[in-house]
Amino acid sequence: MLNTTVFELSDYKKTGEISFSDEEKLIEAAGILREGGLVAFPTETVYGLGGNGLLKEASKNIYAAKGRPSDNPLIVHVADMESVEPLVKEIPPMARILAEKFWPGPLTMIMEKSPRVPYETTGGLETVAVRMPSDKAALELIRLSGVPVAAPSANTSGRPSPTTAFHVKEDLFGKIDAIVDGGATGIGVESTIVDLSGEEPVLLRPGAITKEMLEAALNEAVDVDPALEKPMEKDVHPKAPGMKYRHYAPKAPMVIVQGDFYEGADGIEDGLRVYEELMKIVDTVKALVSENAAEGKRVGVICSDETWEYYFERGAVLPKEKVYRTETVELRSIGSRKDEKSIAHNLYSVLRDFDDEDIDYIIAEGVDPRKLGYAIMNRMQKAAGWHIIRV
Ligand code: TXA
Ligand code: MG
Repeated sequence: MLNTTVFELSDYKKTGEISFSDEEKLIEAAGILREGGLVAFPTETVYGLGGNGLLKEASKNIYAAKGRPSDNPLIVHVADMESVEPLVKEIPPMARILAEKFWPGPLTMIMEKSPRVPYETTGGLETVAVRMPSDKAALELIRLSGVPVAAPSANTSGRPSPTTAFHVKEDLFGKIDAIVDGGATGIGVESTIVDLSGEEPVLLRPGAITKEMLEAALNEAVDVDPALEKPMEKDVHPKAPGMKYRHYAPKAPMVIVQGDFYEGADGIEDGLRVYEELMKIVDTVKALVSENAAEGKRVGVICSDETWEYYFERGAVLPKEKVYRTETVELRSIGSRKDEKSIAHNLYSVLRDFDDEDIDYIIAEGVDPRKLGYAIMNRMQKAAGWHIIRV
């Protein structure tokens, strides 16, 4: 057991600004990083588990703390453009354009690595993933450490990524040197990953910077790694090695019930059609709940603000909290379908709650699979092992 120090950025959590006393804590945490220790810290996407990306030992310790296979490369985080150059062979022109437009922010770019970056950090690959996060505490911590910070998500391998310091404590307390608590992360799903090491840009993991945003910035089509479009089979090798694991996963098996109304051109503008489609989803979810509850399982349901009321008897007084529990079912609204940001923000936290409450089976309503919804559905599909019912 390590003695894990928690640095709570009390003022940053309240105001979003780093105060003098927060800064002192970050200086201490940065010292631990520089010396080769492991420090978990908030970013705008999820919490990261940081170590000095130039030290083999630090990267090895990251894998050990997470229980993560060491062929799964780490993302190296920087606080400025000057720190990118020593990490890569060259910065491709496309990377300069994307950095200009989206950094600091939730975008990770894969480039050919320089000899300075140890294979322990890149999982044996000749390429390195680089990201400049926009969270102020993350940027300050990296800057103060004076080193590139290798950081995967700060969860035990296989669990949903952490979006609060509490989640990090659940998984890593006693296994790492320190945790910087900067409050809940904003976006809630991991960064977009784009591979710029080949001729054409390829999207390896969808995130808040969407494919459309990348294409608009580059004025060029971005390919999608085939592994994003279908379940993993023997002949599909995702380019981001981490995407092959049953990642982002809750303990319980999960199924997604997905409607098709988003695929029509103006489907979502047609109120009656939306209502009918939502009812199909609700009816299917209810049937699945009955089936599983009859087998003695406790079922967790992830619904939306739009469908919430339809899970109750007509005329019933609706609970104010968006969580409702009976002996057999736990119903949770993950947010409004019109507000994908709040759905992304809540997803992992809801999955972790189901873990903590020993739910046996999870049924989730699917959401609009476009824009940020593409990232949300990607994480849901992985959590569900591609178990999807289309209605
Ligand atoms: O939002 C994020 O990106 C968070 C925060 C902490 O920055 N980090 C994160 O790291 O999600 P992690 O390790 O959980 O996911 C990194 C992903 C993995 O799927 C890994 O396989 C892929 O990035 N990756 C890293 N280096 C790569 C490389 N050289 N080539 C292809 N994929 C790479
Ligand atoms: Mg991860």
